[in-house]
Amino acid sequence: MAQFERHVFVCTNVRDAGHPRGCCSGKHSETIREALKEAVKNLGLKRRVRINSAGCLDQCEHGPTVVVYPEGTWYGFVTLTDVAEIVESHLVNGKPVERLRLPDGCVNTAGCPHKGAAR
Ligand code: FES
Repeated sequence: MAQFERHVFVCTNVRDAGHPRGCCSGKHSETIREALKEAVKNLGLKRRVRINSAGCLDQCEHGPTVVVYPEGTWYGFVTLTDVAEIVESHLVNGKPVERLRLPDGCVNTAGCPHKGAAR
Protein backbone atom coordinates (compact mmCIF):
# COMPACT_ATOMS: atom_id res chain seq x y z
CA MET A 1 0.00 0.00 0.00
CA ALA A 2 1.26 3.44 -0.90
CA GLN A 3 1.98 5.86 1.91
CA PHE A 4 -0.64 8.39 2.85
CA GLU A 5 0.00 11.86 1.50
CA ARG A 6 -1.74 13.50 4.43
CA HIS A 7 -2.94 12.66 7.88
CA VAL A 8 -5.76 14.72 9.35
CA PHE A 9 -6.19 14.53 13.10
CA VAL A 10 -9.48 15.67 14.59
CA CYS A 11 -9.61 16.06 18.34
CA THR A 12 -12.57 14.10 19.69
CA ASN A 13 -11.58 14.37 23.33
CA VAL A 14 -14.42 14.29 25.86
CA ARG A 15 -14.42 16.14 29.17
CA ASP A 16 -17.07 16.56 31.80
CA ALA A 17 -19.45 19.49 31.33
CA GLY A 18 -18.18 22.56 33.10
CA HIS A 19 -14.50 21.73 32.70
CA PRO A 20 -12.67 25.05 32.42
CA ARG A 21 -10.92 24.09 29.18
CA GLY A 22 -14.00 22.60 27.56
CA CYS A 23 -13.52 19.89 24.98
CA CYS A 24 -13.76 19.47 21.23
CA SER A 25 -16.31 16.68 21.51
CA GLY A 26 -18.68 19.09 23.21
CA LYS A 27 -18.35 21.30 20.13
CA HIS A 28 -19.38 18.53 17.73
CA SER A 29 -15.93 17.41 16.60
CA GLU A 30 -17.11 13.83 16.11
CA THR A 31 -19.58 15.06 13.49
CA ILE A 32 -16.79 17.02 11.81
CA ARG A 33 -14.57 13.93 11.76
CA GLU A 34 -17.35 11.83 10.23
CA ALA A 35 -18.00 14.49 7.57
CA LEU A 36 -14.30 14.60 6.68
CA LYS A 37 -14.20 10.80 6.39
CA GLU A 38 -17.28 10.76 4.20
CA ALA A 39 -15.95 13.50 1.91
CA VAL A 40 -12.59 11.78 1.53
CA LYS A 41 -14.33 8.50 0.74
CA ASN A 42 -16.70 10.10 -1.78
CA LEU A 43 -13.80 11.77 -3.58
CA GLY A 44 -11.84 8.53 -3.82
CA LEU A 45 -9.07 9.86 -1.59
CA LYS A 46 -9.13 7.10 1.02
CA ARG A 47 -5.79 5.68 -0.06
CA ARG A 48 -4.13 9.10 -0.06
CA VAL A 49 -5.63 10.88 2.93
CA ARG A 50 -6.22 9.41 6.38
CA ILE A 51 -8.72 10.97 8.76
CA ASN A 52 -8.02 10.08 12.39
CA SER A 53 -9.57 10.75 15.74
CA ALA A 54 -7.15 12.25 18.20
CA GLY A 55 -7.16 12.69 21.91
CA CYS A 56 -6.65 16.17 23.29
CA LEU A 57 -4.27 18.13 21.07
CA ASP A 58 -3.80 20.69 23.87
CA GLN A 59 -5.51 23.39 21.85
CA CYS A 60 -8.80 23.09 23.72
CA GLU A 61 -9.55 26.81 23.73
CA HIS A 62 -9.44 26.73 19.94
CA GLY A 63 -11.70 23.74 19.48
CA PRO A 64 -12.83 22.00 17.56
CA THR A 65 -9.21 21.54 16.63
CA VAL A 66 -7.94 19.86 13.45
CA VAL A 67 -4.31 19.46 12.39
CA VAL A 68 -3.10 18.36 8.96
CA TYR A 69 0.28 16.73 8.40
CA PRO A 70 2.83 16.76 6.85
CA GLU A 71 2.30 20.53 6.64
CA GLY A 72 1.54 20.90 10.34
CA THR A 73 -1.37 23.19 9.57
CA TRP A 74 -3.50 23.87 12.64
CA TYR A 75 -7.15 24.75 12.20
CA GLY A 76 -9.27 26.08 15.02
CA PHE A 77 -12.93 26.79 15.70
CA VAL A 78 -13.79 24.42 12.85
CA THR A 79 -17.47 23.89 12.12
CA LEU A 80 -19.32 21.38 10.01
CA THR A 81 -19.80 24.01 7.31
CA ASP A 82 -15.99 24.36 7.01
CA VAL A 83 -15.45 20.72 6.07
CA ALA A 84 -16.10 21.05 2.34
CA GLU A 85 -13.62 23.94 2.07
CA ILE A 86 -10.91 22.10 3.99
CA VAL A 87 -11.34 19.06 1.78
CA GLU A 88 -11.48 20.91 -1.53
CA SER A 89 -8.83 23.54 -0.85
CA HIS A 90 -6.35 21.70 1.32
CA LEU A 91 -6.79 17.97 0.84
CA VAL A 92 -7.52 18.05 -2.90
CA ASN A 93 -5.62 21.15 -4.05
CA GLY A 94 -2.92 21.43 -1.39
CA LYS A 95 -3.86 24.98 -0.40
CA PRO A 96 -4.51 25.45 3.34
CA VAL A 97 -7.63 27.40 4.31
CA GLU A 98 -6.06 30.57 5.65
CA ARG A 99 -9.18 31.89 7.36
CA LEU A 100 -9.30 28.81 9.62
CA ARG A 101 -5.60 28.64 10.49
CA LEU A 102 -4.59 29.23 14.05
CA PRO A 103 -1.97 31.96 14.27
CA ASP A 104 1.49 30.84 15.37
CA GLY A 105 0.97 32.85 18.54
CA CYS A 106 -1.91 30.58 19.51
CA VAL A 107 -0.30 27.16 19.14
CA ASN A 108 1.60 25.94 22.18
CA THR A 109 2.18 29.38 23.61
CA ALA A 110 1.26 30.58 27.08
CA GLY A 111 0.55 34.03 25.64
CA CYS A 112 -2.33 32.92 23.44
CA PRO A 113 -5.20 35.39 23.93
CA HIS A 114 -7.78 32.56 23.82
CA LYS A 115 -6.38 30.76 26.86
CA GLY A 116 -8.57 31.43 29.83
CA ALA A 117 -11.27 32.91 27.63
CA ALA A 118 -14.43 30.83 27.42
CA ARG A 119 -15.78 30.48 23.89
S1 FES B 1 -10.08 18.89 23.93
FE1 FES B 1 -9.63 19.19 21.81
S2 FES B 1 -7.67 20.08 21.85
FE2 FES B 1 -8.07 19.64 23.93
